[in-house]
Amino acid sequence: MRAKKIALAIIVSVLAMGMVFAGGSKEKTTTMATSEAKLQPSENPSGKLEIFSWWAGDEGPALEALIKVFEAKYPNVDLMNATVTGGSGVNAKAVLKTRMLGGEPPEAFQAHAGMELIGTWVVADKMMDLTPIFEEEDLLNKFPETLIPLLSKDGGIWAMPVDVHKSNVMWYIPENLKKWGVEVPTNFDEFIAVCDKLQSKGIIPLSMGTTWTANENWENVALGVLGPDDYNKLWNGELRFDDPKVVNVWETFGKVISYTNTDAASLSWQQATDMVINGKAAFNWMGDWAAGYMMTTKKLEAGTGFGWANTPGTQGVFQFLADSFGVPKGCKNPEAAAAWVATCGSKEGQDAFNPLKGSIPARIDADMSLYSAYSKSAAKNFAEDIIVGSLAHGCVASEGFSNDFSKVMETFLNNKDATEASAMCQELADKYIK
Ligand code: GAL
Repeated sequence: MRAKKIALAIIVSVLAMGMVFAGGSKEKTTTMATSEAKLQPSENPSGKLEIFSWWAGDEGPALEALIKVFEAKYPNVDLMNATVTGGSGVNAKAVLKTRMLGGEPPEAFQAHAGMELIGTWVVADKMMDLTPIFEEEDLLNKFPETLIPLLSKDGGIWAMPVDVHKSNVMWYIPENLKKWGVEVPTNFDEFIAVCDKLQSKGIIPLSMGTTWTANENWENVALGVLGPDDYNKLWNGELRFDDPKVVNVWETFGKVISYTNTDAASLSWQQATDMVINGKAAFNWMGDWAAGYMMTTKKLEAGTGFGWANTPGTQGVFQFLADSFGVPKGCKNPEAAAAWVATCGSKEGQDAFNPLKGSIPARIDADMSLYSAYSKSAAKNFAEDIIVGSLAHGCVASEGFSNDFSKVMETFLNNKDATEASAMCQELADKYIK
């Protein structure tokens, strides 16, 4: 528990450092202090409400359940569920940026707790402070004490958390591993031995999708190779990206992805998960929205239909991200937006959303009897493990860093040059981190 607090404190201090995205340069956030715009609670909202996210298609059922809770409570609001498909928001974030800069914001939009929210939209003074909603709904003590700081800056709370996801999970089908005579690997040596065995049987050891999924697998390797302390040091500038330890991360990552499918670039995360489900591949490393997909869309049972373990070398560590909804300044219907974020933070809303999503509730008082065996185990991990933030999902680094990291990844996927990738990352660190 103590270790958990220390690790999260590091994430929070990364936020406090205040490096800014905004056009890509390094700036102290304090120079762009947020001006007063507090969102007030509303009793009986009406009119149009547009909520914006990337939870489309297979990612939609959890959000639809949350919307049902909202609509039952606020029948006079006409909710428009605007989605832009694409895992991890790769497409949605670009559309959002155009709309925000063009003065056409939705009433509320999805953003990750941490640098994605704070280092992008809060420092640019584009968000409303939700503190009055937290107060009115008595939410200040309903979330883990380390979560609110990831949504806070300059005395305001800038988004409402709806879930907590874990990104360092390795998925498999127990029956298939048994059939192929392999055990679940716990470290990189075991992983490589298992991959070699699978390959000799004509099985793809690890399925992977498009670039952002490679980014996520990179953060899993970085955590497994470096351990939580050094991993955290990457995000506060204490460990250089051109350090031999980080070159080793890229080398290990290169080895890991040598076991993946050749068509990764053209696959969505769901298609990569499908390869495991249909027995083409043995493992997939993905955040636990994959559990939501396997349970809700594919109707597989956690534990029997699919199994899970931490990615190699990350036992006892929970690589964390949280989805939240924020309300931009200039939205047309702040009353309805206030009702929406209140619903996102409500127990009823979270218990409708999270069991379908594969995430655990952000609230500490949710009804865990409604959750799967997987989510119960993730909740236990979250309570007991060391927590570190996700790179691929906006927690530890600004959007500027993350976007440019994808370019480094594309280069590495082509040339597999670990030394060059490390040097390129250090250039990003010089630009975006202290
Ligand atoms: C993450 C998001 C998850 C899930 C995933 C795949 O960034 O936090 O909720 O949507 O992308 O798209």
